[in-house]
Amino acid sequence: MNKAKRAAVIAGNWKMNMTPSQTTAFMNELAPKVAGLDGCKIVLCVPFVDIAAAVEATKGTNIEIGAENVHMEAKGAYTGEISGAMLAECGVKYVIVGHSERRQYFAETDVTVNGRTKAGLANGLKVILCVGETLTEREQGVTYETVARQTKVALLGVSAEDLRNVIIAYEPVWAIGTGVTATSAQAEEVCGQIRGVIADLYGAEAAEAITIQYGGSMNAKNAAELLSMENIDGGLIGGASLKSDDFTVIVKAAQ
Ligand code: 13P
Repeated sequence: MNKAKRAAVIAGNWKMNMTPSQTTAFMNELAPKVAGLDGCKIVLCVPFVDIAAAVEATKGTNIEIGAENVHMEAKGAYTGEISGAMLAECGVKYVIVGHSERRQYFAETDVTVNGRTKAGLANGLKVILCVGETLTEREQGVTYETVARQTKVALLGVSAEDLRNVIIAYEPVWAIGTGVTATSAQAEEVCGQIRGVIADLYGAEAAEAITIQYGGSMNAKNAAELLSMENIDGGLIGGASLKSDDFTVIVKAAQ
Protein backbone atom coordinates (compact mmCIF):
# COMPACT_ATOMS: atom_id res chain seq x y z
CA MET A 1 0.00 0.00 0.00
CA ASN A 2 1.31 3.44 -0.79
CA LYS A 3 0.42 6.91 0.45
CA ALA A 4 -2.40 7.30 -2.07
CA LYS A 5 -4.25 4.39 -0.51
CA ARG A 6 -3.99 5.63 3.08
CA ALA A 7 -6.71 7.76 4.62
CA ALA A 8 -5.62 11.39 4.69
CA VAL A 9 -6.86 13.17 7.80
CA ILE A 10 -6.75 16.91 8.37
CA ALA A 11 -7.65 17.59 11.98
CA GLY A 12 -7.84 20.84 13.89
CA ASN A 13 -6.99 21.03 17.57
CA TRP A 14 -8.66 24.08 19.00
CA LYS A 15 -6.96 23.69 22.42
CA MET A 16 -8.60 26.13 24.91
CA ASN A 17 -10.23 28.42 22.34
CA MET A 18 -13.82 29.22 21.29
CA THR A 19 -17.09 29.31 23.24
CA PRO A 20 -20.17 27.33 22.16
CA SER A 21 -21.67 30.29 20.26
CA GLN A 22 -18.34 30.96 18.55
CA THR A 23 -18.22 27.26 17.66
CA THR A 24 -21.61 27.38 15.94
CA ALA A 25 -20.59 30.48 13.98
CA PHE A 26 -17.26 28.92 12.94
CA MET A 27 -18.80 25.65 11.74
CA ASN A 28 -21.48 27.50 9.77
CA GLU A 29 -18.71 29.51 8.10
CA LEU A 30 -16.43 26.52 7.42
CA ALA A 31 -18.98 23.97 6.17
CA PRO A 32 -19.73 25.60 2.78
CA LYS A 33 -16.01 26.25 2.19
CA VAL A 34 -15.05 22.58 2.56
CA ALA A 35 -18.23 21.06 1.07
CA GLY A 36 -17.37 18.43 -1.53
CA LEU A 37 -13.69 18.22 -0.54
CA ASP A 38 -13.80 14.48 0.01
CA GLY A 39 -10.13 13.70 -0.64
CA CYS A 40 -9.42 13.74 3.09
CA LYS A 41 -11.24 13.36 6.37
CA ILE A 42 -11.97 16.72 7.96
CA VAL A 43 -12.01 16.74 11.75
CA LEU A 44 -12.18 19.47 14.37
CA CYS A 45 -11.23 18.56 17.93
CA VAL A 46 -12.89 21.04 20.24
CA PRO A 47 -13.14 21.76 23.99
CA PHE A 48 -15.62 19.50 25.81
CA VAL A 49 -18.18 22.27 26.33
CA ASP A 50 -18.20 23.06 22.59
CA ILE A 51 -18.94 19.49 21.48
CA ALA A 52 -22.74 19.76 21.49
CA ALA A 53 -22.69 22.95 19.42
CA ALA A 54 -20.07 21.53 17.03
CA VAL A 55 -21.94 18.26 16.46
CA GLU A 56 -25.22 20.09 15.89
CA ALA A 57 -23.74 22.63 13.44
CA THR A 58 -21.92 19.97 11.38
CA LYS A 59 -24.86 17.55 10.94
CA GLY A 60 -25.14 16.64 7.26
CA THR A 61 -21.68 18.05 6.43
CA ASN A 62 -18.34 16.34 5.74
CA ILE A 63 -16.87 17.69 9.00
CA GLU A 64 -16.45 15.28 11.93
CA ILE A 65 -15.97 16.26 15.55
CA GLY A 66 -13.33 15.14 18.00
CA ALA A 67 -12.50 15.76 21.65
CA GLU A 68 -9.13 16.81 23.06
CA ASN A 69 -8.78 14.08 25.69
CA VAL A 70 -10.54 11.14 27.32
CA HIS A 71 -10.18 9.56 30.76
CA MET A 72 -8.90 6.00 31.10
CA GLU A 73 -11.60 4.78 33.46
CA ALA A 74 -15.22 4.14 32.45
CA LYS A 75 -16.67 6.13 35.36
CA GLY A 76 -16.12 7.04 38.98
CA ALA A 77 -14.56 9.57 41.32
CA TYR A 78 -12.37 11.47 38.84
CA THR A 79 -13.40 15.07 39.29
CA GLY A 80 -13.13 17.09 36.11
CA GLU A 81 -12.57 14.16 33.77
CA ILE A 82 -14.69 12.93 30.84
CA SER A 83 -15.22 9.29 29.84
CA GLY A 84 -15.21 7.70 26.41
CA ALA A 85 -18.88 6.70 26.74
CA MET A 86 -19.81 10.33 27.46
CA LEU A 87 -17.98 11.46 24.33
CA ALA A 88 -19.42 8.74 22.10
CA GLU A 89 -22.97 9.53 23.21
CA CYS A 90 -22.41 13.20 22.33
CA GLY A 91 -21.54 12.31 18.72
CA VAL A 92 -17.76 12.57 19.03
CA LYS A 93 -15.89 10.40 16.49
CA TYR A 94 -12.24 11.18 17.28
CA VAL A 95 -10.19 11.94 20.36
CA ILE A 96 -6.69 13.35 20.78
CA VAL A 97 -4.51 11.66 23.42
CA GLY A 98 -0.99 12.37 24.59
CA HIS A 99 -0.75 15.92 23.31
CA SER A 100 2.52 17.46 24.47
CA GLU A 101 0.62 20.20 26.32
CA ARG A 102 -1.10 17.48 28.35
CA ARG A 103 2.27 15.86 29.02
CA GLN A 104 3.93 19.18 29.88
CA TYR A 105 1.27 20.99 31.92
CA PHE A 106 -0.91 18.16 33.26
CA ALA A 107 1.66 15.54 34.18
CA GLU A 108 0.55 12.97 31.62
CA THR A 109 2.97 10.13 31.08
CA ASP A 110 3.39 7.41 28.48
CA VAL A 111 1.43 5.16 30.87
CA THR A 112 -1.57 7.50 31.25
CA VAL A 113 -1.53 8.03 27.49
CA ASN A 114 -1.74 4.25 27.05
CA GLY A 115 -4.80 4.11 29.35
CA ARG A 116 -6.50 6.96 27.51
CA THR A 117 -5.74 5.40 24.12
CA LYS A 118 -7.38 2.14 25.17
CA ALA A 119 -10.38 3.97 26.65
CA GLY A 120 -10.97 5.86 23.41
CA LEU A 121 -10.73 2.69 21.34
CA ALA A 122 -12.99 0.74 23.71
CA ASN A 123 -15.69 3.32 23.10
CA GLY A 124 -15.47 3.21 19.33
CA LEU A 125 -13.55 6.46 18.94
CA LYS A 126 -10.71 7.00 16.51
CA VAL A 127 -7.66 7.95 18.57
CA ILE A 128 -5.19 10.60 17.42
CA LEU A 129 -2.10 9.63 19.41
CA CYS A 130 0.44 12.46 19.69
CA VAL A 131 4.17 11.81 20.00
CA GLY A 132 7.13 14.11 19.60
CA GLU A 133 10.48 15.13 20.98
CA THR A 134 11.43 18.29 22.85
CA LEU A 135 14.17 20.57 21.54
CA THR A 136 16.59 19.13 24.12
CA GLU A 137 15.82 15.60 22.99
CA ARG A 138 16.42 16.57 19.36
CA GLU A 139 19.68 18.29 20.24
CA GLN A 140 20.80 15.26 22.25
CA GLY A 141 20.13 13.03 19.24
CA VAL A 142 17.40 10.97 20.92
CA THR A 143 14.45 11.92 18.71
CA TYR A 144 14.01 8.37 17.44
CA GLU A 145 14.31 6.83 20.91
CA THR A 146 11.76 9.31 22.26
CA VAL A 147 9.06 8.82 19.64
CA ALA A 148 9.64 5.06 19.53
CA ARG A 149 9.19 4.79 23.31
CA GLN A 150 6.10 7.04 23.32
CA THR A 151 4.54 5.03 20.48
CA LYS A 152 5.34 1.63 21.96
CA VAL A 153 4.08 2.40 25.46
CA ALA A 154 0.93 4.15 24.20
CA LEU A 155 0.04 1.07 22.15
CA LEU A 156 0.69 -1.56 24.85
CA GLY A 157 -2.28 -3.94 24.82
CA VAL A 158 -3.78 -2.43 21.64
CA SER A 159 -4.74 -5.21 19.21
CA ALA A 160 -3.96 -5.15 15.50
CA GLU A 161 -7.68 -4.77 14.86
CA ASP A 162 -7.94 -1.75 17.15
CA LEU A 163 -4.83 -0.23 15.57
CA ARG A 164 -6.96 0.46 12.49
CA ASN A 165 -8.66 3.15 14.58
CA VAL A 166 -5.40 4.78 15.61
CA ILE A 167 -3.85 7.76 13.87
CA ILE A 168 -0.40 8.87 14.98
CA ALA A 169 0.39 12.57 15.03
CA TYR A 170 4.09 13.41 15.01
CA GLU A 171 4.33 16.78 16.74
CA PRO A 172 7.83 17.96 17.58
CA VAL A 173 7.35 19.98 20.76
CA TRP A 174 9.70 22.72 19.55
CA ALA A 175 7.45 23.34 16.52
CA ILE A 176 4.16 23.70 18.40
CA GLY A 177 2.81 27.22 18.55
CA THR A 178 6.26 28.63 17.85
CA GLY A 179 5.95 29.41 14.15
CA VAL A 180 9.01 27.19 13.69
CA THR A 181 7.93 24.31 11.45
CA ALA A 182 9.96 21.15 11.04
CA THR A 183 11.32 21.07 7.51
CA SER A 184 9.51 18.64 5.26
CA ALA A 185 12.65 16.47 5.33
CA GLN A 186 12.77 16.45 9.16
CA ALA A 187 9.06 15.67 9.43
CA GLU A 188 9.28 12.97 6.76
CA GLU A 189 12.25 11.32 8.45
CA VAL A 190 10.53 10.95 11.82
CA CYS A 191 7.14 9.98 10.34
CA GLY A 192 8.96 7.24 8.41
CA GLN A 193 10.69 6.10 11.60
CA ILE A 194 7.33 5.92 13.40
CA ARG A 195 5.98 3.79 10.52
CA GLY A 196 8.99 1.53 11.12
CA VAL A 197 8.08 1.19 14.80
CA ILE A 198 4.54 0.15 13.76
CA ALA A 199 6.05 -2.39 11.35
CA ASP A 200 8.11 -3.88 14.20
CA LEU A 201 5.05 -4.08 16.45
CA TYR A 202 2.28 -5.06 14.04
CA GLY A 203 3.90 -6.02 10.72
CA ALA A 204 4.44 -4.37 7.37
CA GLU A 205 0.82 -4.32 6.25
CA ALA A 206 -0.37 -2.47 9.36
CA ALA A 207 2.52 -0.02 9.01
CA GLU A 208 1.60 0.71 5.41
CA ALA A 209 -2.04 1.28 6.33
CA ILE A 210 -1.71 3.57 9.37
CA THR A 211 -2.30 7.29 8.95
CA ILE A 212 0.55 9.42 10.29
CA GLN A 213 0.02 13.16 10.61
CA TYR A 214 2.47 15.97 11.10
CA GLY A 215 1.65 18.77 13.55
CA GLY A 216 3.52 21.89 14.65
CA SER A 217 2.98 25.29 13.02
CA MET A 218 1.39 23.74 9.94
CA ASN A 219 -0.31 26.55 8.07
CA ALA A 220 -1.83 27.63 4.77
CA LYS A 221 1.64 28.35 3.35
CA ASN A 222 3.61 25.24 4.30
CA ALA A 223 0.89 22.57 4.29
CA ALA A 224 1.16 21.54 0.64
CA GLU A 225 4.87 20.76 0.86
CA LEU A 226 4.58 18.83 4.13
CA LEU A 227 1.57 16.87 2.85
CA SER A 228 3.40 15.92 -0.34
CA MET A 229 5.87 13.78 1.61
CA GLU A 230 5.50 10.01 1.27
CA ASN A 231 5.06 9.29 4.98
CA ILE A 232 2.93 12.32 5.94
CA ASP A 233 -0.75 11.49 5.55
CA GLY A 234 -2.33 14.53 7.10
CA GLY A 235 -1.98 17.26 9.65
CA LEU A 236 -2.91 18.13 13.22
CA ILE A 237 -3.34 21.86 13.19
CA GLY A 238 -3.53 24.25 16.11
CA GLY A 239 -3.55 27.98 15.41
CA ALA A 240 -4.48 27.75 11.73
CA SER A 241 -7.56 25.63 12.57
CA LEU A 242 -9.10 28.65 14.27
CA LYS A 243 -9.36 30.52 10.96
CA SER A 244 -11.79 28.96 8.48
CA ASP A 245 -9.98 30.33 5.42
CA ASP A 246 -6.56 29.02 6.49
CA PHE A 247 -8.00 25.66 7.53
CA THR A 248 -9.76 25.39 4.14
CA VAL A 249 -6.48 25.99 2.29
CA ILE A 250 -4.90 23.13 4.29
CA VAL A 251 -7.86 20.83 3.52
CA LYS A 252 -7.50 21.67 -0.17
CA ALA A 253 -3.76 20.91 -0.04
CA ALA A 254 -4.64 17.38 1.14
CA GLN A 255 -6.95 16.58 -1.80
P1 13P B 1 0.16 24.87 16.15
O1 13P B 1 -0.37 24.49 14.80
O2 13P B 1 -0.55 26.07 16.73
O3 13P B 1 1.64 24.95 16.19
O4 13P B 1 -0.26 23.66 17.13
C1 13P B 1 0.04 22.38 16.74
C2 13P B 1 -0.60 21.45 17.69
O5 13P B 1 -0.22 21.37 18.84
C3 13P B 1 -1.74 20.65 17.21
O6 13P B 1 -2.08 19.68 18.14
